[in-house]
Order: sequence, then structure tokens, then C-alpha cells
Amino acid sequence: MSMFRGSSFPGKSVTLSAPAKINLHLEVLGLRSDGFHELAMVMQSIELVDQLEMIRSDSDLISLSSDDSSLSNDDDNLIIQAAKLLRSRAGSSDLGAEIYLRKCIPIGAGLAGGSSDGAAALVGLNLLWDLNFSNEYLVDLASELGSDVPFCVEGGTKFCFGRGERLEPVESSMTNMAVLLVKDPSVSVSTPWAYRRFREINEKKYLKFEDDFQLRRKELREAKWLKPLSVENPPPLRNDLQLIVSEEVVAVQNALAILLDLPGAISVAMSGSGPSCFALFANLDAARSALEFSRKRLQSAGLESWACSMRNEGVKLES
Ligand code: C5P
Repeated sequence: MSMFRGSSFPGKSVTLSAPAKINLHLEVLGLRSDGFHELAMVMQSIELVDQLEMIRSDSDLISLSSDDSSLSNDDDNLIIQAAKLLRSRAGSSDLGAEIYLRKCIPIGAGLAGGSSDGAAALVGLNLLWDLNFSNEYLVDLASELGSDVPFCVEGGTKFCFGRGERLEPVESSMTNMAVLLVKDPSVSVSTPWAYRRFREINEKKYLKFEDDFQLRRKELREAKWLKPLSVENPPPLRNDLQLIVSEEVVAVQNALAILLDLPGAISVAMSGSGPSCFALFANLDAARSALEFSRKRLQSAGLESWACSMRNEGVKLES
């Protein structure tokens, strides 16, 4: 039931779903002059979603509440950052909104939950405040909020180059495929730590020049394993951060070991900087059967789990 039903606010309202992502491919190419890493990724949206309800307020207050007491509702939340950025670009400091977040995507998990919430705030408030900014402009704004936020606006299956903000289409017919996702709820991984650690170990092997980055991007665009992605031609999965994170985080080792044992699992990897890990399945029934098969083992390892299908879009307006 909507939290706004019966509310004293008579304003316009919108509800959006904000999906999680997994990395089918995460390759670290080198270091950029801005200190970030130059990446070549293939990201995929999945049907594990947060929900945001927004109501236009007649004051200039932007407020956030949620069903997750561990989350900050202040300026360090990407939803608030997105709202303030959008409002400042609109040049109307009197715009306000009341936002309610229903959190389902685990936090600090490598699933871009926070980034997707920020993306949903941009898309939702653009509608709620009647700003009419183009999707292209919202994607540009998204890159100011974080490297994964542009992908979360667009969603589906995409190459994410540069810091992660340069999106290109990937041919895919994986819609029927599914994932079994697992995460230890007591563990989260700091993304800056994961990249720092990766750099300490691998910097000597980094590509150095823009020409080299360009060549690698071209190779990926033309790679056979991407032509097109489908159940007959599933992605092999690669995550350069997996080895260094799993060396330090036992929960990732456990998760990968259990997933590798599952009947019907096509391939297995960590997502983003972890600690979430996932196995790919031909369809949702296969993922659900694997979940049933391994439920006891997952529980005794302290892992939470979700079986969910692929999603071919990012943030979506629900009502
Ligand atoms: O952009 P975002 O805020 O998600 O990045 C979090 C951190 O992850 C950055 O501060 C940086 O340490 C690391 N990172 C990186 N290269 C990228 C993306 C993220 O080094 N392309």
C-alpha cells in the first residue's frame, strides 16, 4: 500500500522501480589521469529492485525516508545528491519532494543498489517536477553522481567503458536467462579499497596509452562471445577484482564454492567489487531449483540468496 494514501499532501506522485546490476565482464585496463581506473565492463540489469515513491511538495524541502534503518537519509545518500543536483540544474531552488525508499537490493554488495536509487531519483524527479530534461542529459548528470549511475538510468545489457559511464549497446537475447545471487549479509566490501588493492598488485601490467584502451575496446566490441549473448552463447564471465577480493574475504570464497557446485549453473562470478556472487542459469525455473537444492547449505554458510531473471531496462516508472 502506498505510504502516501491518505497523506495530507495533495501533490502529484510517481513510483519507480530501480534494478540491481551484475557484471558479466569487469576488466581493469589501466589508470586514468583523474585517478579512476579505465574499465571495460559488460553490465546486466536483473529483476531485484528497490522501489521509490515520490510526491511533489509545495515547500522547497527534499526529504527521504526508508524501510531500512541502516541507511542514511541525508546528503550522503545518492537519492538526496541526485535530487539536489537536478534541482540546481533546473535553476529552481523552490522545488521540493517527499521520497520514500523500499530497500530490497543489499547495501555495499557490488550490485549498484545505491547507484540505481540515485538514477531513479533523477528520472522520477524529472517527471515529478515537469523539467523535461532529455534522457541523454539525465545520463550526463548521472555520471556526476557516480561511475555506475549512468548505466542504472539506461539498464539492460551494456558495455560500460571509461570510468564506467560511457555506455554502448550489447547485442543480447538473454531475457529468459536467470541468476542465483548470494551474499553474506554481515559483509560489505569498500569499492575504493578493492581498486586500491588491485592497483598495488597489478599496476605494472596496466595498459598505459589511450591507443591501447581503444584497441581493447574494439576487440571487445568484436568478440565472438558477445555475438549475441544468449543461452546458446552465454557469457564466460570475467571479473578482474574477484581474485584479490576473494583472497581477503572468506564470504566470497564460500559463496563461489557453493555456486560452483550447483546443478545447472552455467558459470559463476563475483559482481562488481563484491561481496555478492552469482551463478548464471538457462531460465528462472533452473535458478529456483538450484536455490531449493542448496538452501540448507547456503543457510548454514550464512548466505542470503535470490533467484531472479534478467531485465532489459533500467529505472522504470511503475505509476
Ligand atoms: O564512481 P564511484 O563513486 O562509484 O567510485 C567509487 C570508488 O571506486 C572511486 O572513488 C575509486 O576509488 C574506485 N573506482 C575506480 N575506477 C573506476 C570506478 C571506481 O578506481 N572506474
